[in-house]
Amino acid sequence: MKWGPKKGTVPIFQKRGQSPFSPQVRIEHVSKAYRQDGRGPPVLDDVSATIGAGEFVVVVGRSGSGKSTLLNLIGAIDLPSAGEIFLGDVAIGDLDETGRALLRRRHIGFVFQSYNLIATLTVGENLHLPLELNGHHGRAAAARVQQWLAAVGLADSQSRWPEELSGGEQQRIAIARALVHEPQLVLADEPTGNLDLATATEVIALLDRLCRDAGTTLLMATHSREVIGRADRVLTIRHARLHEERP
Ligand SMILES: Nc1ncnc2c1ncn2[C@@H]1O[C@H](COP(=O)(O)OP(=O)(O)OP(=O)(O)O)[C@@H](O)[C@H]1O
Ligand SMILES: [Mg+2]
Repeated sequence: MKWGPKKGTVPIFQKRGQSPFSPQVRIEHVSKAYRQDGRGPPVLDDVSATIGAGEFVVVVGRSGSGKSTLLNLIGAIDLPSAGEIFLGDVAIGDLDETGRALLRRRHIGFVFQSYNLIATLTVGENLHLPLELNGHHGRAAAARVQQWLAAVGLADSQSRWPEELSGGEQQRIAIARALVHEPQLVLADEPTGNLDLATATEVIALLDRLCRDAGTTLLMATHSREVIGRADRVLTIRHARLHEERP
């Protein structure tokens, strides 16, 4: 599996298993400061880490420590001030805006605290969207949507509207949306922040299981002890540095 070639050209999509390449996140000497004038401490200061294919890694740290910042850099939503992030053998910094958009669209799934389902689309249409953006249409796409709705236990919700669903149900749909295009990496930013403990536990168990079944790497920012207990590894951001801690 390749994440995509350099500048401007279109990353080549290959299905998992068709290539000996093992997806992996490498964060190399990454710093991030939002202020252009260099005043004030950076949010991230010379941070390095490697995340292996299929691992479930949580990022913890107090509010404002830089968890979302790190996820946004890994998800090619934002660029570091210094350093490089590799997804597989592709350096995100080598891609232009279009290349980064294609990388996100094809190879990454995102889950947010506030679900971010599109309110004017039905549940089924929300799931079709990532497939259509990747050129998948017709019966095969419809079957894939139905398969993922079933996988999150909401097989009958195809024609419902997001607002008709509970928070936990919306997050299960958001998980299906993040996985429907079979990404190599799922980035989840406090996905249980709006849910009660019992629902949060269910949602995390589901996300963990689906990612493990698919061999998908899962990187999650969280404050939840229950989530931390399930992870393979825990990375803590403290004083703009990344520390590895035991789960
Ligand atoms: N787009 C931005 N422009 C300027 N400053 C930003 C921006 N995004 C984040 N920051 C600042 O960077 C720091 C880290 O923010 P970030 O959102 O990464 O923290 P976090 O660990 O995700 O916090 P929380 O647990 O509250 O979600 C904060 O001081 C924040 O104000
Ligand atoms: Mg955050």
